[in-house]
Amino acid sequence: MPLTHQQLTEIANKFATPLYVYDADTITTQYQKLTTAFAQTNTKFFYACKALTNINILKHIKAIGCSVDCSSINEVKLALLAGFNAANILYTSNGIHFSEIEEAKNLGVHINIDSLNNLEKFGKKFGHSYPVGIRIRPNIMAGGNLKISTGHDKSKFGIPVDDLDKILAIVRNNDMHIQNLHLHTGSDIKDADVFVKGIDVLFEIIPHFKELTSIDLGGGFKVPYKKGDEETNIPLLAQKVNEAFANHPNPNGKPLQVWFEPGKFLVSQCGYLITKVNVIKETTSTVFAGVDTGFNHLIRPMFYDAYHQIENISNPTAQQNPIPLQAIFAKQIHLQQTEILPK
Ligand SMILES: Cc1ncc(COP(=O)(O)O)c(C=O)c1O
Repeated sequence: MPLTHQQLTEIANKFATPLYVYDADTITTQYQKLTTAFAQTNTKFFYACKALTNINILKHIKAIGCSVDCSSINEVKLALLAGFNAANILYTSNGIHFSEIEEAKNLGVHINIDSLNNLEKFGKKFGHSYPVGIRIRPNIMAGGNLKISTGHDKSKFGIPVDDLDKILAIVRNNDMHIQNLHLHTGSDIKDADVFVKGIDVLFEIIPHFKELTSIDLGGGFKVPYKKGDEETNIPLLAQKVNEAFANHPNPNGKPLQVWFEPGKFLVSQCGYLITKVNVIKETTSTVFAGVDTGFNHLIRPMFYDAYHQIENISNPTAQQNPIPLQAIFAKQIHLQQTEILPK
């Protein structure tokens, strides 16, 4: 249940603004949607903590039984500080120095390696002694926005599936123990079939990895931003994943656990940023409200064009600005583009 305007106003009055407020029950509800839908499937959920790394949120995630996915060594250390066991921490990085992977190995966490260079370095140094996962780039275009599409054929994330021969040569030459195959196609994915496509890609290559115990389908479940938006239909997704597994029994005979890395799905709807208006500026184009926060606290609208609902909690029935600022900007950008585009 979203917090009411009255609750938020009381909290703001107590703690002052600008203020982030998080509702733990919302996270629990989202997590339970996943565990309920996947009750019949052997799954493990790792919260992709890049979505929100507040340590108290991490402690709550741990308390409800969810594991954690980290994209940097400092996130790994934060997860350990929050009390997670190494066995429940996954480290999936991109383009980092080998020394960080080594550090993660020394901390005993699960690791997904996402480049041939680091795979080879890891193999040469640790051989069969430390099981690892490989992040595959499946060449699937998906996601709400190109900036958050990570699995397509021009993406820097993961080792292209076309490089399978090179992967296999490294694994064979260094007698590596590959326990997991990972992919993450992007964020904001409503269509459950995208995950099925990912499973199809992985099942093409699974027979080559005899010691596999899991496959990791990443995160990316869609959350509603605006009124009327729909989130990914999780029960349908669970049904499709189960069907895909029924169609592809593991050729190596062992049952595979399915891992997911939901980030925004768990936390997007739990957070509020409460801000107070400092000044009102009436101009010929619109009325500006200068507030006591900025994109140092909420970068996503500027960074990704992400939509965040703004509500006037102290005066909810006040008249809204008739022309939203975004519409004015869109018009200006359109004008600029038509000026510079050749006729
Ligand atoms: C490897 C990986 N896993 C999981 C996620 C989480 O994505 P989302 O917050 O859309 O669920 C991301 C997001 O960038 C990611 O890169």
